Amino acid sequence: MRILVTGGAGYIGSHTTALLRARGDFVVVFDSLELGYRQAIGDTPLVVGNTRDGALVKQVIGDHKLEAVIHFAAYKAAGESMTSPAKYFDNNVQGSLRLMEAACQAGARQFVFSSTAAVYGAPKTLPVRESDDLRPENPYGESKLIVERMLKWFGTCYGLRSVILRYFNAAGAALDGENGEDPRYVQNLIPVVMNVATGRTPMLRVFGTDYPTPDGTGIRDYIHVDDLARAHLNALDYLRAGGVTTTLNCGYGHGYSVREVLESVQRVAGKRLEIREEPRREGDPPALVAGAERIRKVLGWEPRLDDLDGIVRTALRWEERLQRSPW
Ligand code: UD1
Repeated sequence: MRILVTGGAGYIGSHTTALLRARGDFVVVFDSLELGYRQAIGDTPLVVGNTRDGALVKQVIGDHKLEAVIHFAAYKAAGESMTSPAKYFDNNVQGSLRLMEAACQAGARQFVFSSTAAVYGAPKTLPVRESDDLRPENPYGESKLIVERMLKWFGTCYGLRSVILRYFNAAGAALDGENGEDPRYVQNLIPVVMNVATGRTPMLRVFGTDYPTPDGTGIRDYIHVDDLARAHLNALDYLRAGGVTTTLNCGYGHGYSVREVLESVQRVAGKRLEIREEPRREGDPPALVAGAERIRKVLGWEPRLDDLDGIVRTALRWEERLQRSPW
């Protein structure tokens, strides 16, 4: 297929780009490079731009005769969205709207969208299913939910068919150690623990030890970035076969606590790490675990790398590689 990948130089986008190219698809990456890296995509054609520039998007889709869009480009720091909501609505909502409009005008009517488990807020029951209540607790989650809703109307009104993928916690790095997330700019648990393991930061701050979970710390469903990336290929295949607009959780269906992640990193790195117990972080639900049956049924997707120590091993290898030669 011929595909536009927005945010293709970012963490999940670049892993997906690699898999698409490995199977012979033609990819054009569209990325502002504000948070993405040219090095992450090798010699993949790259257009540097923002998705709010609908005219540029339309031209790129037309010039390269692209048939589908995978839309990763967005801001994703839930905490930051609480202090800068306008930034999130502008980039994530406005950027998606201009992109969707341009894609329809240029005739690319198959669309895969990066959504998030943050659309659920703090679910009443776990695992959380696609049909459960949607109550985002931060502007980041709200911005993604607004786009989900716009996509449904674009389906009805313009015939844009989409697969909305609600990511749980993407983690880990490429198996060959040559691509991963830049741990210098993210506050997510696994990259933060990597920074402690390699001595970049002195200790892990554990946010909340009084949650109603077995060990008192927050539980999340960590999914290896390659398994998550592969779901996008399955989503494209589904759309190409005529599939209708659908929404799917992307997770393994079980979770690990902060302490369990810490233990895994200590096991893999072979050393004890310093921690400091702190109050809960604002907006963090106690536990988030995906109801993961639907994606298996609809896309035929199956996990291949569902192993916390394995995820941590790839993340650590990547962190060490990045310390040797930074991007
Ligand atoms: C958040 C967002 C998610 C977003 C993701 C990527 C919510 C509910 N989730 O995931 O939508 O896609 O970021 O940016 O808005 N923790 C620590 N110490 C740390 C860092 C994290 O104890 O230094 C804990 C957190 O309290 C949480 C767990 O580790 O219990 C995972 O946190 P994190 O990796 O930041 O992911 P989420 O908050 O789940």
